[in-house]
Amino acid sequence: MFNFSFQNPTKIIFGQDQIAALNDNIPPDSKVLLLYGAGSIKRNGVYQQVTAALANFDWQEFSGIEPNPSFETLMQAADLVRREKIDFLLAVGGGSVIDGAKFIAAAAVFAGDAWQILAEGAEVTSAIALGCVLTLPATGSESNGNSVVTRYETKQKLGFSSPLVYPQFAILDPSVTFSLPTKQVANGVVDAFIHVIEQYLTYPVNACVQDRFAEGLLQTLIEQGPLALTEPENYNVRANIMWAATMALNGLIGKGVPQDWATHMIGHELTACYGLDHAQTLAVVLPALLQHKRQQKRQKLLQYGRRVWQLTSADEEEVIDQAIALTQAFFQKMGVPTQLADYGLNSEAIDTVVAKLTEHNMVKLGEHADITPEVSRQILQYAL
Ligand code: NZQ
Ligand code: ZN
Repeated sequence: MFNFSFQNPTKIIFGQDQIAALNDNIPPDSKVLLLYGAGSIKRNGVYQQVTAALANFDWQEFSGIEPNPSFETLMQAADLVRREKIDFLLAVGGGSVIDGAKFIAAAAVFAGDAWQILAEGAEVTSAIALGCVLTLPATGSESNGNSVVTRYETKQKLGFSSPLVYPQFAILDPSVTFSLPTKQVANGVVDAFIHVIEQYLTYPVNACVQDRFAEGLLQTLIEQGPLALTEPENYNVRANIMWAATMALNGLIGKGVPQDWATHMIGHELTACYGLDHAQTLAVVLPALLQHKRQQKRQKLLQYGRRVWQLTSADEEEVIDQAIALTQAFFQKMGVPTQLADYGLNSEAIDTVVAKLTEHNMVKLGEHADITPEVSRQILQYAL
């Protein structure tokens, strides 16, 4: 196991009717900006619960944060934060709203052009405090320091990370996820599943705790994910998915182990260029990547096949083939197509994505930093 330090400062407040806890968790006397998306929170009653809990605060709102939040929109919010001297951001939504809040938190107090935070990795030295109410289990953004932002005019989807933008608290009420469209339920399960895979399916370093945790999360998502589609109002199913998605990317299982993330980096270019949902891109890239890297990932693929999918064949190639096929079938069962052609894309798209990876210096991806743009091309060819 590698050396590591681990600290996750986000307080998780989990369960039914917990939105009211906002009142006790936002620092008293804060000047609050409520951030949200296109308005799903007004239709499912979350907005009403949040505003009731904000009764004791001086607050205002900023809406219209898009899925795959846009730099331009977030900069408008950052201006508002500066103008109104806001000192607490409350993000209410999915990963896009929470990621957006993190960027606003950093950009509002950044000296200089805030695009540098994303494009040049400029250091974030201060940020406005934030908290969140999660409405879509998927990204883990509710308790990590990551944010991904898109600049649409240049088709760039770039991220930054900072310990300063962890939410101070995250309220997770599984019942607010009943209103999710089927597609978003499926996207969320697939995204969380692949977050675990990115941190688990590399090479063994004798990290038994991380491996067993990861395998438990994968099995939970395999079991509970399809149930969320057939029993959408089953609270316990929603609760298990919500907690699994948070645990998948709150830093715990990734400590002390090698991490991959090539699927995500290639996927971000597919979203930026062709507008596929984040999870759709991952469902396309991951099986292809596993196929291409089956020798390098051999030991972990066998462990994954045997422990997660309970494959028993003595033939190792067969276990690996089946593990990859079952992974792909799981995404399809969730209703997320796994081939580029399913989204109307062909080899031209591969050329475009490879060019974008090069432009963004995504030229040494994966746990061995050996996925060059040429290797990304070979991977994507498996997904045609
Ligand atoms: O805009 P609203 O009205 O809120 O509607 C949203 C949006 O249309 C809707 N929705 C959310 N909760 C709902 C709901 N509709 C009904 N009922 C509810 N309870 O769902 C749609 C999608 O929301 P979005 O926030 O975009 O989805 P998700 O949570 O999947 O976030 C995706 C973004 O997160 C980034 C992705 O790249 C993408 O930009 N990621 C962030 C990560 C992180 N911070 O660690 C890691 C991930 O790998 C990912 O890259
Ligand atoms: Zn993801």
